[in-house]
Parts: sequence; C-alpha cells; structure tokens
Amino acid sequence: MAKSSYSNPLGMVDILPDQTPTWRALEQIIHEEAAKFNFQEIRTPILEATELIKRGVGQLTDIVTKEIFAFQKGDTHYVLRPELTAPVVRSFVQHHLDQRGGIQKLYYIGPMFRAERPQKGRQRQFHQFGLEIIGSANPVADIETVAFMIRIYQRIGINNFTLKLNSIGGPESRERYKQVLRDYLEPHRSKLSELSQQRLYKNPMRILDSKEPEDQEFIDKAPIIHDYLDEDSALHFEKVKRGLQLLDIPFEIDPYLVRGMDYYTRTAFELSSPDLGSQDALAGGGRYDLLVEEIGGKPTSSVGFAAGMERLLIACEELNISLAEKSILDLYIVSLGEEARNWALSFLPELRAHGLSASMDYVGRSMKAQMKEANRELTHFTLIVGENELTNGTLILRNMVKSEEVTLSAKEVLSAILAHKKGPK
Ligand code: HAM
Repeated sequence: MAKSSYSNPLGMVDILPDQTPTWRALEQIIHEEAAKFNFQEIRTPILEATELIKRGVGQLTDIVTKEIFAFQKGDTHYVLRPELTAPVVRSFVQHHLDQRGGIQKLYYIGPMFRAERPQKGRQRQFHQFGLEIIGSANPVADIETVAFMIRIYQRIGINNFTLKLNSIGGPESRERYKQVLRDYLEPHRSKLSELSQQRLYKNPMRILDSKEPEDQEFIDKAPIIHDYLDEDSALHFEKVKRGLQLLDIPFEIDPYLVRGMDYYTRTAFELSSPDLGSQDALAGGGRYDLLVEEIGGKPTSSVGFAAGMERLLIACEELNISLAEKSILDLYIVSLGEEARNWALSFLPELRAHGLSASMDYVGRSMKAQMKEANRELTHFTLIVGENELTNGTLILRNMVKSEEVTLSAKEVLSAILAHKKGPK
C-alpha cells in the first residue's frame, strides 16, 4: 500500500518553533499595551452557534454567505468563528457583564477562520488581536480604540500606514442614503459589474467597496453619505476627528469606506499599509451601537477594532523589524558515561530552580557531537563532565561566548553561572 502523506489544511499554517518566539513577543506587546490602557482580556470558544454569526455579522455579508466553516453536530449548527465582535457581545449579554458596573473594555488575541482563497496575507485560519469597548456612546471610546490600535504598530516601529475614517451614520440616515445611492446607480445598472448589480437592491452601500474596474467611474461620482448624516452622527464624527487631531494621529476621510459587516453604525475606520501588497488592510473597526440589542441585550453603544497578526508580521518582515531576540541557553551539560549522565540529570533541577535554563544530551552521543549540539543550541556555558571529572571534583566550565575555560567543583559551577548572570553584561 502506498504510504499516505499528510499536510496542513489549505490556508491554515503551522507556526514552527523558529517562529513562535516572534508570536510570543507580539502577544507580549499586546498584553503590555492593553494593561496600560486598562483593558481586560476575554477568551471565548473557537466554535459559536451559526445563528449568532448570521445575526451578528449579517446574513448577506460575504463572510456569512461564502466564508464560514460550518458544520452540524446533533441538532446544533456550529461555525468556526470568523471574527470576535459578535462572540464577545454574545458573552457580554450572556454573562450580564453590564451588571459589573462601568463599561467593558475587552481585548482578545486568537485564531479566526474564513474560507477565503488563500494568498499572501490571506489565510483560512488567521489570527487577530482586537478590542471591544462595550457601553460607551461617547467619541472618547472611538478615539481610545484607534489610539490603542495605532500604539501597537508605533511601538513595533511600523509607522508607514494610512488610517481611513468615515461615518456611516445611524440606521435612518443610512436608509435615506441607500435610496439616494440606488436612484443614482439605477440608470447605470447594466454597466455595473455582476456583483454590484446583485447588490444594487440588497445592499447598495457595498458597491462602494467594489474593486471591479467597471464600477469605479460610478463610485467616483457617487453621492457621499456625509450629506445625509443625521445631526447627532455628524456631531459625533466631528468629535472623533478632533480627538484624533488632538492625539496627532493622521487620518484621511474616505466617504466610501464601508466595512464588510452589517453591524456598523457611525464611525468606521481601516488601517492599511503600503508594505503589504494586495491584502493591505492591517486592521479595521468601528462603532456598532445596535449589535448588543440585536443579540438580545439592552441597547448598549459600543466600538471596537481587530487587526490581522499575520499581516502585522509580514509588515515587520518587509521593514526588517525583528520582535524576538534569539534565546540563549544558560548551560548545556556535556556528559560522558552513565555516571556522569546521571549526575547531570540530577543537577538540572537545581539549576532550573535557581532560574537558569539548562539542558543536556538526550541521546548518548560522543563528546564531539555533544559540543556541536551545545553550539547549535546557542548556549552561554557548557559544562564538561566525565567520570574522572566527577571523581576529582574538577568540572570544566566553558564560556562559549568568550571561549574561556575554568575548572571548578560542582558547587562552584552554580555560583559561577549565577554570578555571571547577575553581573554587568
Ligand atoms: P475585519 O476587517 O474583517 O474586521 O478583520 C480585521 C483584520 O483581520 C483585517 O484588517 C485583516 O488584517 C485581518 N484579516 C481578515 N481576514 C483575514 C484573512 N483571511 N487572513 C489574514 N488576515 C485577515 C473584523 O473582524 C471586525 N470584527 C473588527 C471589529 C472589531 N469591528 C468592531 N470591533
């Protein structure tokens, strides 16, 4: 029988050991910055009820119609979560987080799933970090959301980005605008792309998002939503703009920015990078004042964003930014013979209990092979232990960085390495 070979599912990648330090460094930055903003972490299941995502994200969105991974188990229909705004709101409503007092400022890091056609920067399993501020209608929440998002990129050293900002108003102004847009596009219907023709009646605002060349001339001249905003939304938009100016966060107004989910109201924004190629959206978000009620809670104004972590890491690569330093082992024990190996094995816990990282040969290799391994592992010190060294109490401690050797007793080894760690680097 032919030997079967397996590989990861299409668009879902393994994060290998040489990449995990970078991921952990990025996660660490997100946790640190979130703590500075007084945001709390939330973790929700990878699976959610299909109905929640349909309801939350929107029946007619690309995500729901084309991109969700869905399956049924018993009578329950599940999806792999394509995003976290609807699940976080579900959790907020389910656990009555509003009763804990104050507004909820919740951040998250984790995998999301969308059955898109994979390409650079677009995967089927990808990772987001994000934030949801639930319970504030004040523009301060929009401004802090954007400030947190920008802060992460700036701290990392990614400064080459464009922040696009729009207001898509409340439901009434949007309905009025949709009608105006339909009236404007209808006479050109046959010249629009097939997809836009389909959207003309169901969701004409999504036409503004179209990348099809034949739609562009009509989008360029389309009426803009700002002329149809209700007074409160217009005032809110002004305050968000002023806040961003106050914080020196540059932005561009894009009246045609509409996001891919149905839950947005008022503020919508997207951060893109010229270093990313065709999948250039680093992050996106906006206000969703009606979603909590839609999912069964009391009316609760909210705003948030999510950012693609793979795309952030691609930008780092393009800019030659490395987030993680290569970790160096404190001590590798080269042991020869059974007795030396047992001694090494029992010395390891003591080293580790003192906060040192330490390892040894697991295979029973020759001294030369073990020295080679110590070099490959990038170790600061190597300790050479054979039966003679044990009997005489003269172990050889080699500083691999300085290429120096000293002969020490077992007791002295520990204090020598500790002293070196504490001392000036
Ligand atoms: P989104 O724009 O769909 O928004 O996703 C946010 C970010 O996730 C994108 O800007 C992109 O960087 C990354 N992303 C999306 N799809 C993929 C993919 N297939 N492969 C790699 N990266 C991807 C949301 O998800 C909303 N929940 C954001 C939000 C939070 N709005 C309010 N609160």
